Amino acid sequence: MTHARLPSTPRPIQVVAHRGASDDAPEHTLAAYRKAIEDGADALECDVRLTADGQLVCVHDRRVNRTSNGRGAVSALELADLAALDFGSWKDREESPDWDPVPGELTSVLTLERLLELVCEVRAQGRPLELAIETKHPTRWAGQVEERLLHTLKSFGLADPPDEGESPVRVMSFSSRSLYRVRAAAPTIPTVYLMQFVSPRVRDGRLPAGAGIAGPGMRIVRNHPGHIERLRSAGHRVHVWTVNEPEDVELCVRLGVDAIITNRPKQVLSQLGRS
Ligand code: G3P
Ligand code: CA
Repeated sequence: MTHARLPSTPRPIQVVAHRGASDDAPEHTLAAYRKAIEDGADALECDVRLTADGQLVCVHDRRVNRTSNGRGAVSALELADLAALDFGSWKDREESPDWDPVPGELTSVLTLERLLELVCEVRAQGRPLELAIETKHPTRWAGQVEERLLHTLKSFGLADPPDEGESPVRVMSFSSRSLYRVRAAAPTIPTVYLMQFVSPRVRDGRLPAGAGIAGPGMRIVRNHPGHIERLRSAGHRVHVWTVNEPEDVELCVRLGVDAIITNRPKQVLSQLGRS
């Protein structure tokens, strides 16, 4: 008996927790990432920076002033200095209904290694959690961020996936040079080119060498939806940041994007009918 061929089911949109569930818990802390996992996020996003003693830590800003009780540039501080700081107390002052202050490791500085351990723990339980790592300030360090990143991924057996589709980790950057370095050293790790504006080099839907996935900001999606269509027609997957409002989620769904990067994974999953 022959069966009519069913239309293939499109891949569901991946929901990525931006800096963890960062609306509900202090960004880039274990507390925020654990909350994102509990909320059901498909993937986690983090920024990485090098400390003065060459360690990769998950911090967004150049300085620690906004997100800790300390002061100074991450690049001028050693890991031990950062470990003495509290990365949770600034959130205690915010009106976040889901945030109850917690001390200790949950709100300490988070190293990339510790975050990878968490991702591997979850994956070992059979859940295909992914991690999107953004390299910050890659030009200043002339390759050291990528070198350290790949060294760390290698120690977790994640630097050489058989193909892109099987990599639990991807690297994102606003710097095409950073992605190029990653691609040259680890060709099967997916790379995402982050864009704040539609620059002339990507206007026709092409991405710079070394970049595999397009990462437009939500402002581009709102103001230039045709650009998203061009990127998709050129065969690129599209990962959009930072998508927090229901109308933005709706637009992303309409345009057929592949991943939504959000501070509110729980709300987005619920809107997508996945909770
Ligand atoms: O996920 C990409 C997005 O995080 C880029 O912007 O400033 O939040 O790192 P930013
Ligand atoms: Ca980021």
